[in-house]
Amino acid sequence: MTPAPLQATAQAQPNIALVKYWGKRDAALNLPAAGSLSITLDALHTRTSVCFDASLAADDIVLNGERDAAQARKVGTFLDLFRARAGVTTRAHIESRNDFPTGAGLASSASGFAALAVAADRALGLGLDAAYLSALARRGSGSAARSIFGGFVEMAAGVRGDGEDARATPLLAADAWPLEVVIAITTRAKKSISSSAGMQASQRTSPYYRDWVATVPHDLDAARAAVQARDFDKLADVSEASCLAMHAVMLATRPGLIYWNGATLDCIQCIRSLQMMGTGVFYTVDAGPQVKAVCLPDAVPRVRGALQNISGVEEVLVSGLGEGARVVEDATACT
Ligand code: DP6
Repeated sequence: MTPAPLQATAQAQPNIALVKYWGKRDAALNLPAAGSLSITLDALHTRTSVCFDASLAADDIVLNGERDAAQARKVGTFLDLFRARAGVTTRAHIESRNDFPTGAGLASSASGFAALAVAADRALGLGLDAAYLSALARRGSGSAARSIFGGFVEMAAGVRGDGEDARATPLLAADAWPLEVVIAITTRAKKSISSSAGMQASQRTSPYYRDWVATVPHDLDAARAAVQARDFDKLADVSEASCLAMHAVMLATRPGLIYWNGATLDCIQCIRSLQMMGTGVFYTVDAGPQVKAVCLPDAVPRVRGALQNISGVEEVLVSGLGEGARVVEDATACT
């Protein structure tokens, strides 16, 4: 029998939710209050190497070239889930890098924890299946459960107390409906309130929170049907409604959560004008000021041109849909 590799490197991409996740049914196990539906991107990447090394006294975690104590604690606790399954206590050296802005509403925690889950699984030789890895990735970040898979992905809220059924499943492969996403970056600054903290605040104080959770199953049914039928207009309709309803919950939180800036709203208005002219595009915005314009392929040049002309838009990225998290390199010894 070949020994389990001590080191592995995995790559994952962020995903963009079309039916949003905002709120938890259990904070300790990070169980979502409702399901969600997303598309996994292909142009933005997180690459994470994990090396379990018996000579280490503590985990050594380097994210984008920096050591950050708060992140390190979170990552260490996440790795404990894998160590427990492997029956080891060995500490690890982790090196993770994003080729896009971190913590600015571009879903870096989704790709980060998905890549880490896949790398840790391989490095410890656990051989867990993708569904199980999705449930584990969720413990790091709810949206990370979706980045385990590519293309169109649905995340289940689940009903079990242990959260084993709160995991994602693939709905449709990326190449089965090759949509494109134009991302308008309106600031590279990190957001001031994390998604987790924002969700907690909304749950506690937003008068719309319960109604929001109650609307999600209906939106999920509509979005799933639109994906299955490749019906762009229907997907546009439900996605924009889900995005704005989530932001309404955020705005009604006390104090209000305003993740947008002026350019965010200008981008939305611009996309609305393009829609009126028959362009196949719709918008979505997460817990940050970046605007993601989901497009039919022939609409990309027009949408990119229009968004990059908006004052306050610093950069425009274009991405197709991509694959789920995967091992890209493994070795039998740490380097
Ligand atoms: C607005 O997955 O980052 O992007 O589970 O607390 O880590 P935690 O939250 P996270 O929240 C994502 C929120 C969102 C909507 C979405 O991606 O569904």
